[in-house]
Amino acid sequence: MVRPVARRLHAENIEEVVTTALKRSGVSLEEIDAVAATVKPGMPLSLVVGTEYGKQLALNARKPFIPIHHMEAHALTVRMVEQLIIEINTRIFWVEFPFLVLLVSGGHSLLVLAHSVDRWSIIGQTVDDAPGEALDKGARRLKLRNIPECSSMSGGQAIEHLAKEGNPRAYDFPTPMWKYRDCTFSFAGLKHSLLKLITKLEEEYEVEGGNIIPPIRDVCASYQYAITKHLVRQTQRAMVYNDIRGLLPKENLKLVLSGGVACNNYIRSALQKLCETTGYQLLCPPPRLCTDNGIMIAWNGMERWKAQSGVIYDEEAIKNIDIKAKCPIGVDLTEDVRSLGIKIQKWVKFR
Ligand code: KG4
Ligand code: ZN
Repeated sequence: MVRPVARRLHAENIEEVVTTALKRSGVSLEEIDAVAATVKPGMPLSLVVGTEYGKQLALNARKPFIPIHHMEAHALTVRMVEQLIIEINTRIFWVEFPFLVLLVSGGHSLLVLAHSVDRWSIIGQTVDDAPGEALDKGARRLKLRNIPECSSMSGGQAIEHLAKEGNPRAYDFPTPMWKYRDCTFSFAGLKHSLLKLITKLEEEYEVEGGNIIPPIRDVCASYQYAITKHLVRQTQRAMVYNDIRGLLPKENLKLVLSGGVACNNYIRSALQKLCETTGYQLLCPPPRLCTDNGIMIAWNGMERWKAQSGVIYDEEAIKNIDIKAKCPIGVDLTEDVRSLGIKIQKWVKFR
């Protein structure tokens, strides 16, 4: 990604996006209650465009402004989706707080507890790369763009696609963080192992230039398996931690999965297997609401509006709101997790 280009594209398109959204919804600016925009965390050059535009829109229309945390928005989207189910099937079902969330994207790998709209605890997070980043960088090195059917896919999508016909046990990858009995993630080691494996296979098969190594499907399947195994294991330990600390109601255990990597069906079904074994219900927004989207920001605005939490009314206070490149979602419980030294009796197996 070229950051100044991203900023220019944001600036060029924001006006039209807002105008079209208002036109399509049939709602005028006067009729809306408040303006919500992502202010943290993320790339400053892009964040600043939406934040400043949103603030100006709120000030001009004399509406309150609601600053949104990007990861909170990913985690809460599922509450909007399940509400829709109520309306369609007249089924009474609501994703009540508290629940466990696994957020996996190009920039994040987080296990959090959602206590309420504005209270979160971190159970584990990555010490280096995010899984989406590991998939994207791996896909680039594998030159997956040169495979016609993968040319327009994201790295994660391309690896999932090719892995469908590969053997997930063809190549071994090291287990990250196995020495630490916590829920911390690390994907840099897996990525480096993949890069080393590709170099070795390229030599072995005498592959040069833009050509693809013959065992590409097995490599993708094994890499995807290793990433999934790491996600499943740390989530399993997080479930045991919740159990020890009594953080979730035993009669209503929920795991919410979201973020761009949550589009991956292999990862979804492995986590489904974990949830079936541990008595959790797995909840996941549809793929188009897992990847970054504006709807999740609007929904988070609704949640905060209903709770009247973090709604800024004062004009001077709105003007003073600033973006934040980094901003933890809540209190970090990593040390508490580690202090328990949780040993897992039996890892959940998946294929
Ligand atoms: O949440 P997102 O849209 O953006 C942020 O990073 O915040 O996530 C994008 C990431 C990319 O790394 C992309 O490779 C990954 O989501 N992704 C997938 C799949 N579709 C998108 N990863 C695995 N399997 C997929 N099917
Ligand atoms: Zn995101």
